[in-house]
Amino acid sequence: ATGLLRDALGRPLTDLRISVTDRCNFRCSYCMPKEVFDKDHQYLPHSALLSFEEITRLARLFAAHGVRKLRLTGGEPLLRKNIESLIEQLAALRTPDGQPLDLTLTTNASLLARKAQALKAAGLQRVTVSLDGLDDGVFRRMNDVDFPVADVLAGIEAARAVGLPVKVNMVVKRGTNDAEILPMARHFRGTGVVLRFIEYMDVGATNGWRMDEVLPSADVVARIAAEFPLRPLEASAPGETAQRWAYEDGAGEIGVISSVTQAFCSDCSRARLSTEGKLYLCLFSHGGHDLRPLLRGTEAGTGSASDEAILSAIGHIWHGRADRYSELRALRGPDTTDAAAPRRVEMSYIGG
Ligand code: GTP
Ligand code: 5AD
Ligand code: SF4
Ligand code: SF4
Repeated sequence: ATGLLRDALGRPLTDLRISVTDRCNFRCSYCMPKEVFDKDHQYLPHSALLSFEEITRLARLFAAHGVRKLRLTGGEPLLRKNIESLIEQLAALRTPDGQPLDLTLTTNASLLARKAQALKAAGLQRVTVSLDGLDDGVFRRMNDVDFPVADVLAGIEAARAVGLPVKVNMVVKRGTNDAEILPMARHFRGTGVVLRFIEYMDVGATNGWRMDEVLPSADVVARIAAEFPLRPLEASAPGETAQRWAYEDGAGEIGVISSVTQAFCSDCSRARLSTEGKLYLCLFSHGGHDLRPLLRGTEAGTGSASDEAILSAIGHIWHGRADRYSELRALRGPDTTDAAAPRRVEMSYIGG
């Protein structure tokens, strides 16, 4: 069925991002601000989470629909107990033409040094590490749990040492960590690590987003190019989030993810599966399509739905998809939020 499934705007479904936990040991202000995610915050009970078998079953059915890339997210995915065993099950899946899926995860790296070897052995293909600066004070303030830069760097090294390619994501907030752009570029140039700068986005409803804290990617590129000349690279896949740039001197590449100033909805091929099994068609959705009743049966005595029934449900949901939040925000004017809109789901729940 590869490539046949298209949404209402003609976009295929090629990526599935799976949130495996809504918990995180960091409190990045742009994602899980302390005032909201405090000790009284109610996380999902374990019984609500999809089991590894349920996740793998759904991933297999998404692969039958043309999904080629799986990304585990959270929250912090390495906090999910025994995550290696899920990775092992996902690594065994194949596309309809017999290829393994691109299997990766996004992590804050706090547990990466400890787990890199097991993740690699389980079949993980690469990792993306979030790191918002090299200055220890700046980084400790941004993660808001006083976590040191050195431990993240040790996690990155451990991943590389076991042969996992690494990308680093830096969320840029003007006035908070934009002075870290050049130090980060200097540090990762020539190492093989791909550094990507992300425009601070208005995801969720709790991070107090303001347009004046967004540093446009064009400025990021200009600042780096002033020190290290850059040339644009072709996209490596259609619908890719990042625009890629190569250092002219051959020291590797960087990327910028510009969902605020240059929306990339027109070929967005990503679906998101929440921790409890709701399918979200956009990072900015306020509602998901609950797949868990299909997996578990709705009432006592009703069994799980057949593979065919679940495949057809997924197909039906994707056919109806017309989401393009970032494009619409740009049309409205970038610094307006739609006050009448229902509360959006948090990124820690839906998965980045
Ligand atoms: P690669 O496969 O390595 O290119 O990863 P990716 O860019 O698809 O995923 P990653 O988890 O590294 O995400 C990078 C940034 O892009 C994060 O801030 C995500 O929240 C954001 N992002 C990912 N997908 C989307 C999307 O569909 N829409 C928007 N607006 N942002 C996205
Ligand atoms: N804007 C941009 N990126 C964000 N992330 C989390 N919250 C935001 C936000 N408000 C990033 C994380 C991680 C990735 C999955 O999403 O830092 O790298
Ligand atoms: Fe945790 Fe990542 Fe969110 Fe930071 S951005 S709070 S590390 S899930
Ligand atoms: Fe896709 Fe929604 Fe992001 Fe646009 S805003 S790229 S539709 S997830």
